Amino acid sequence: MTEKPRTGHLANAWINIDKGADPGFFVRFLDASRVRALAFARSNPDAAFAHLALKSGMTILDCGCGTGDMLALMARLTAPGKASGGDLSAAMIQEAKTRSSSSGVTNVDFNVMDVQKIPFPDQSFDRVLATQLLIHVPDPHKAFREMCRVTAPMGRVALSDMDWDGLLVGCSNLEIGRRFTRLFSDGIRNPVVVREFAGWFKAEGFVNIRTIPVPLVFDDWAFFREWMIAPSLPHFIAQGAMSREEAEFFVADLESRNAAGKFLAACTLYTVVADRP
Ligand SMILES: C[S@@+](CC[C@H](N)C(=O)[O-])C[C@H]1O[C@@H](n2cnc3c(N)ncnc32)[C@H](O)[C@@H]1O
Repeated sequence: MTEKPRTGHLANAWINIDKGADPGFFVRFLDASRVRALAFARSNPDAAFAHLALKSGMTILDCGCGTGDMLALMARLTAPGKASGGDLSAAMIQEAKTRSSSSGVTNVDFNVMDVQKIPFPDQSFDRVLATQLLIHVPDPHKAFREMCRVTAPMGRVALSDMDWDGLLVGCSNLEIGRRFTRLFSDGIRNPVVVREFAGWFKAEGFVNIRTIPVPLVFDDWAFFREWMIAPSLPHFIAQGAMSREEAEFFVADLESRNAAGKFLAACTLYTVVADRP
């Protein structure tokens, strides 16, 4: 059986931020998409980071830290322990440095790094995490092994990613809705890599492996239209996977469903956590 070619339209976006014309697009995307998670973490950090069991004095490495906002919040719980953020994009690291210096957190630092070759010695962190990173990385298993390498004995690793095959969009034409979600998922480099994490931890000898699902509802139509649909539909049309008429129907249908109060899109974020013995 031959598999249909994957759309791949988002495969390189997050690994080439600095090479694009507008690195700020990705900063704006993170700001728009992390509003609720950040508000929750700011108001209730103990609950937001419960799975990490953070304590004063611990060292943390946040791989693919993006704008660094989450790490700055974690750093408050682990001070005076050092919190390090690493990201492939120099533009992201610059943004993270600017934000953290104005937030008054002093135990955090940010450096450009590739998670596939982490520039830290073995066993140097108590907590090592990657949030919505491994779906984008060319060799996610190599990245995972690097994260394990820098984790101290009794330390903990947390990997959080969407399973993008679980994206749902309520469209009045079920087939077109399903086609959009499948094409969107196929646009990502490793859309279902989260299914491998528990097995990778087991093979690495980690213990207390557990998976925490968090359902995310995209009930903000303007967000979904601007950040999920607009960057994708032109690719599906160009690839011949959707006709222009189907794409126009899809947008108009979701618009009218939203006006009627019945727009729904959702996906699940899975955090897989495990401890190094
Ligand atoms: C979707 S963003 C997630 C950012 C942040 N963890 C969050 O959840 O808000 C992915 C981030 O991973 C970074 N990235 C991509 N490839 C990477 C790599 N090989 N090593 C380190 N960071 C990488 C990107 O620059 C981007 O900032």
